[in-house]
Amino acid sequence: MDWQQTPVYYESIPISNKEFAQISGLMYQYFGINFSEKKKVLVKTRLNQYLINHGYHCFNDFYQNLVSSANPALLLDLAERLTTNYTFFFRETEHFHFLLKTILPQIQKNKEERENKTIRIWSAGCSSGEEPYSLAILLHDYFSKSFDPFEFKILATDISLKVLEKAQIGIYPKDVLKNVPDRLLKNYFTPLDNDAYQVNQKIKEMVTIRRLNLMSAKFPFHESFDIIFCRNVMIYFDDESRKKLIQQYYQHTREGGYLIIGHSESLHRRTTLYQYIQPSIYRKGN
Ligand SMILES: C[S@@+](CC[C@H](N)C(=O)[O-])C[C@H]1O[C@@H](n2cnc3c(N)ncnc32)[C@H](O)[C@@H]1O
Repeated sequence: MDWQQTPVYYESIPISNKEFAQISGLMYQYFGINFSEKKKVLVKTRLNQYLINHGYHCFNDFYQNLVSSANPALLLDLAERLTTNYTFFFRETEHFHFLLKTILPQIQKNKEERENKTIRIWSAGCSSGEEPYSLAILLHDYFSKSFDPFEFKILATDISLKVLEKAQIGIYPKDVLKNVPDRLLKNYFTPLDNDAYQVNQKIKEMVTIRRLNLMSAKFPFHESFDIIFCRNVMIYFDDESRKKLIQQYYQHTREGGYLIIGHSESLHRRTTLYQYIQPSIYRKGN
């Protein structure tokens, strides 16, 4: 075949520095996500097909439409395309060990003096559900026959509707299950025909899935959390947004409760009110 006769299927819309600054400015303003110059190619690649499908000829037209229409759905759509949702079950296993070896025994030990027997856990930036379901499985397994006298509530939130829908369905391919021990796979998942597994209903029922922008000025919670997991989310935020978010987390953490962040992240020890326990694990009060 003469390659010169081959039709061109791939149209590439160029992005100027100014256009990149416009798009990344919106991502920062609304979602706290900070794109360095290095992310220019990522922004272009992830949005190219979307622009073509929606009849845009340049990034500037797309940007002008975003700002002039003031349509929150368009902005959320942008976040949908530009966020990174990589995750898997029992990612960063040390955190699950800490839960098993330290936090859950502490909760059990203090059960008499604790008036409120509902243990609230928040997976903030939960992506497609692997993190909150790992937590639910671990709790279910730890308490085996009965949670009594406790009740566990896991809230799972993310900005992206696409990943939240996946979480709601709870079907996962084998590669994201690589850290799930066979015993847990057998007890908490149903194998499907296509080499995928679905999380069992009893685990799903422990998790409430909601859309929430972590950059919201105020979170809509009346009760505080025993543990907040916010792992591999703040890496995309700049210092200012991270600081504000951690202050909000602190307000929503119960006295004696924990904040657990990703392994590659840390809090400024001099400015945070949380007490440092070990790398990536912090506690409010004693
Ligand atoms: C890399 S995933 C981390 C998933 C999981 N916590 C883990 O550690 O495996 C980051 C998630 O943060 C979400 N995210 C990013 N910015 C957000 C924001 N402003 N509000 C809520 N979620 C956000 C993304 O949509 C993405 O699903």
